[in-house]
Amino acid sequence: MKPSALATSILTSGLLISSAQAQLVPFFTKPDSRAASQQQQAMDGNAPGIQLPPSSSGDTPSAPPNGDVILSDVIGNSRQINIFAGFTRDISSVSTRLDTTSLNTTVLAPVNSAISDLPRKPWEDPKDYSELGALAYEGQAGEDRASRNLRRFAEAHIIPTSPWKEGEKVKSMGGTEVWWETKDGKAVVQPGNVEVDRVVSRVANGEVWVLKGVLNYAS
Ligand SMILES: *[C@@H]1O[C@H](CO)[C@@H](O)[C@H](O)[C@H]1NC(C)=O
Repeated sequence: MKPSALATSILTSGLLISSAQAQLVPFFTKPDSRAASQQQQAMDGNAPGIQLPPSSSGDTPSAPPNGDVILSDVIGNSRQINIFAGFTRDISSVSTRLDTTSLNTTVLAPVNSAISDLPRKPWEDPKDYSELGALAYEGQAGEDRASRNLRRFAEAHIIPTSPWKEGEKVKSMGGTEVWWETKDGKAVVQPGNVEVDRVVSRVANGEVWVLKGVLNYAS
């Protein structure tokens, strides 16, 4: 390859990569459009939000759910989960669910570091790379592929039930059966022993739990 052709190819692939990143960036950076007053409303009268999920023995006081405020109002309130919150807004099946007053949901939101520490991005699938190579997420087909993978990741963390009782087996929106239990005094989601850090929101149509890790989302 002539140097100029090489330079062009590097430049072109650089451009392709940065355009792909630009398309993926909104997943992380979409600003929360909710009004500050709603956020305030969601905070007012709520418990500090540092308790574990209520145990079936009832020894953990649970905050009363908060009037008209719903999950879509509060999902962006906690900075520690704002990567996952961005995904929930970008994946329409999930954003619709969190916006539906008549359906309760438990959102299992992995803490930011759990997502950024993954060996690959949640929208990347090693199978896509082995079948399609480095450009697996380029172009419209690549974007669609990334979006499907991200949807799978997000839906694996959406439990279509709230309150969700200890030991109750439920299929996530992604279709995997999950439950939670108390182990050594900690709430863990199974399978996978993923520890629940805390419950950050309790609102009319459900709860937001912060997880210290991610659930298995492999196809
Ligand atoms: C939905 O959640 C609210 C608030 O926790 C609760 O009062 C209500 O019973 C739940 N509905 C169902 C069907 O679980």
